[in-house]
Amino acid sequence: MDGLDELRKSWLDRIGGASEEGALEEFRVAALGKKGEISLKMRELGKMTPEERQVAGPALNALKDEVNAAIVAKKAGLADAALDERLKAEWLDVTLPSRPRRQGTIHPVSQVTEEVTAIFADMGFSVAEGPQIETDFYNFDALNIPGHHPARAEMDTFYTHRKDGDNRPPHVLRTHTSPVQIRHMEQHGAPCRIIAPGRVYRADYDQTHTPMFHQVEGLVLGEDISMANLKWVLEEFYSAFFGVQVKTRFRASHFPFVEPGAEVDIQCSFEGGTVKVGEGDDWLEILGSGMVHPKVLEAGKIDPTKYQGFAFGMGIDRIAMLKYGIPDLRDFFASDLRWLRHYGFASLEVPTVHAGV
Ligand code: PHE
Repeated sequence: MDGLDELRKSWLDRIGGASEEGALEEFRVAALGKKGEISLKMRELGKMTPEERQVAGPALNALKDEVNAAIVAKKAGLADAALDERLKAEWLDVTLPSRPRRQGTIHPVSQVTEEVTAIFADMGFSVAEGPQIETDFYNFDALNIPGHHPARAEMDTFYTHRKDGDNRPPHVLRTHTSPVQIRHMEQHGAPCRIIAPGRVYRADYDQTHTPMFHQVEGLVLGEDISMANLKWVLEEFYSAFFGVQVKTRFRASHFPFVEPGAEVDIQCSFEGGTVKVGEGDDWLEILGSGMVHPKVLEAGKIDPTKYQGFAFGMGIDRIAMLKYGIPDLRDFFASDLRWLRHYGFASLEVPTVHAGV
């Protein structure tokens, strides 16, 4: 077939000289597309004698493959060249020091909650949770605080609003973590060994009270549990938490959901306006506790003739203030960055049972 060499040379030259991918695509269509120059040549094969065709057919096919391969190779070459260009133009000095960037801190309440959890976990306690918006059944009735009981009034409870004509008792923002006792008993029965940390709410505001604060509840039920176990657990906890041996003092007190009930003080000294835990002759009230009232066990569907146990509730923010020397509770929730940077913890300060020591 005449002219194949020129055809070959003209396409390979053009492909070789292409400077962008778009041009290559145009060449491909113009040479190999339906009406491309090489494709039209293919059609001429039909008019040839079989002998002529035997020579021209393979030659044309070879030309087609060659042009195709040239386009592919040139495309890859252009892409490489473009990448080289970019690598030359864009560069990064990886030895430059990074820009200073302030890291956020862990809030003391979160940190102390983790510390408390780690210490109790080491004593075999697991963590239970309950809702912050409670029914008055779980927050009061099931805990042996009936409607007329003065404890309801004393708690400064936040009630939710009901529409006019809706006579169901309103929900409450839980005033303590004790309702988690009932929920846990209902779901898991006895024996059990849990703590329940979380937010609680009371309408109160001064240096040591905020309308939202944090408590951790403890509940241990079994067939042979006594106040002695309670005292051991608390002394063990406070000693690990404050990192010094801490003595406790139990004072008889009344909570409707325990019998007997006790307020617990920890040994401390008040000198020069600062409180030091684990030394001195003074005592600091720190928590409420007692043996779970039989009526509370019954409300939790537990047989009080078979099981008994202890419960306690303490303020997480309180013990955070004591351990880290934070004077005013209201600052905890003011979201003042200076305060958060000062009292916050680095995210890598992961609490362990040994951390306080
Ligand atoms: N719920 C009590 C409070 O908020 C604390 C407490 C818990 C007392 C468990 C006894 C037993 O003050």
